[in-house]
Amino acid sequence: MAGASGRIPSEFIDDLLARVDIVDVIEPRVRLRQRGRDFLARCPFHEERTPSFSVSREKQFYYCFGCRASGTAITFLMEYDGLGFVDAVEELAERVGMEVPRTGSGPGGAGPEGRGRSMDLDAVYAALEDANRYFRLQLREHPGRDRAVEYLKSRGLSGELAARFELGFAPPGWEGLATALGDAGKEAQVLEHAGLVTRREGGTHYDRFRDRVMFPIRDRRGRVVGFGGRIIGDGEPKYLNSPDGPVFHKGRELYGQYQVLRGRGSRPARLVVVEGYMDVVALAQYGIDHAVATLGTAATRDHLQQLYRSTREVVFCFDGDAAGRDAAWRALEQALPLMRDGRLAAFLFLPEGEDPDSFVRSRGAEAFEEAMASAMPLSDFLFSTLLGESNPVTLEGRTRIVERSAALAAAAPPGAFRTMLVDRTAEIGRVEREEVQLLLAGSGQGRDRGGQARRGSGGGGRPGGERRVPSLVRQAIHLLLNQPSLATAAVRRKGMIGLIERLELDGAPLLAELLRAASENPDLTAASFVERYRDHEAGPHLERLAATPHLIEDGEARKAEFSGVLDRLYEQARRQRQRWLKEKERSGALDAEEKEEFLRLLAEGGRPRATAAGGPGRGMRG
Ligand code: UTP
Ligand code: MN
Repeated sequence: MAGASGRIPSEFIDDLLARVDIVDVIEPRVRLRQRGRDFLARCPFHEERTPSFSVSREKQFYYCFGCRASGTAITFLMEYDGLGFVDAVEELAERVGMEVPRTGSGPGGAGPEGRGRSMDLDAVYAALEDANRYFRLQLREHPGRDRAVEYLKSRGLSGELAARFELGFAPPGWEGLATALGDAGKEAQVLEHAGLVTRREGGTHYDRFRDRVMFPIRDRRGRVVGFGGRIIGDGEPKYLNSPDGPVFHKGRELYGQYQVLRGRGSRPARLVVVEGYMDVVALAQYGIDHAVATLGTAATRDHLQQLYRSTREVVFCFDGDAAGRDAAWRALEQALPLMRDGRLAAFLFLPEGEDPDSFVRSRGAEAFEEAMASAMPLSDFLFSTLLGESNPVTLEGRTRIVERSAALAAAAPPGAFRTMLVDRTAEIGRVEREEVQLLLAGSGQGRDRGGQARRGSGGGGRPGGERRVPSLVRQAIHLLLNQPSLATAAVRRKGMIGLIERLELDGAPLLAELLRAASENPDLTAASFVERYRDHEAGPHLERLAATPHLIEDGEARKAEFSGVLDRLYEQARRQRQRWLKEKERSGALDAEEKEEFLRLLAEGGRPRATAAGGPGRGMRG
């Protein structure tokens, strides 16, 4: 029941979370103070002066009362260090000396290639490291190295910089790499999965990168996952990239990200996204060491999520031409759902014909820094684009602007940024802000289905939604998440979980699943449950409930409350089932098993202990 992250078995995640202590994970990064049973700190995910970030050892869960960021040790590494799910799991596993079992075709599970066939990913990573070493060696020793070295020099790159970015040289010829690595015992199939060789019709292989300057691409954990290769001088294609494969996905990796984040004491104040390998390297040559590049694709949501895990401000750098503006608009659309409070995005349009590489060379680092500082804030870009498309002097034009910007605002999470968009829309459109808000609410962007984008922003801004009386199911889940061991004592009737599962109430099947898991394994913490449902529709609800401390703190009282809630649910389920069996008896015949069940339920109904009012859990806390 672990959705898309299910390639790592959930039992493994349970074991892992049982061995790791979230306090140890967070402590080195955030100064925690013990406060009662929990730990408190200033939240690392938003700016604040008084601490509202709390870490519960009991639940193995963190929660911020300010920005509502919450999650497990795994989530923390994902959000704070910007790791992907699999990487975060691997990092934690490494700490406690566990080996992550790999059951699918690779991390993230996205690769269609090799589906169903298990593959030795470690061998693929090793081949990529070896290839990197090989290319770098060729840049130093190959007889034909001069052209490559001269080319790099002609682009103004120093030896030091080439070393820092580990630039290399893929020599001409069809089998240089395959021979070098093949002799070291690498299988052709592994090299193929690594994207280093291409298979011929007849089944033989040849080097993918030939006679090119090589840029290794490291993922955030520092592993080489692919390469970009530039032709030396003019020619087509100018750049050749590794193909997407089991360890490389262009939509996920950012060139230079590893170099930017490595060895820094703190998170960079801002990151700038450029288009090319050369731009990253040239900016670094000029001391601007916080640039990353997409790999010949538009920036994806995944890219932006990673960036905002490492910094507060992202500056997108584009050409000033029409293509650049189009690309910028696509980036804006991807960024909007991520604009929670404290985050900034800006757009820098370079003069036509310039890219960051040529700009920094002709005008210097200071000019580039200045240009970045005066980059256009996301909202300015948004409104200037809308105003450029429709004439605000006419009523039709204003209407169109208001409609479009309300729809865009709906994509942003509730918060100061969205409020500001609404205010400016009202001003430009000369309408009441309530009107804009109505449009926004009706714009069908499905705020609650924003998936990842909603993480951390909680359910704020929905009048009444949070305040309704918690249903019995919700109460039960809340208690269970706070203390999974409650299940053992409370689940005492035969068939109780099965009946609750069939109950026609929202969340009943989920509660049943949780009860089953908790009674099978009473040592589970809230964190394990949240992880099991990470990619599940119910995930965000569980996370919110796990984050909310239960008002009843005393162990015995909690136990009684939980038993009471379950008894009442069971009673509802029993009656529902009894009615159903009765119907069935009337229309046809009950089989032997059903007859037995019917009689048992009837008998139980007579017992005073199981009636609706009989349980100890009276109080509906509201
Ligand atoms: P550009 O064409 O803007 O090249 O491509 P550039 O970065 O300025 O390169 P130089 O300065 O001529 O060396 C930007 C990015 O688009 C991808 C690469 O990732 C490149 O860095 N690209 C470009 C390709 O993948 N293939 C190509 O043939 C060209
Ligand atoms: Mn260029």
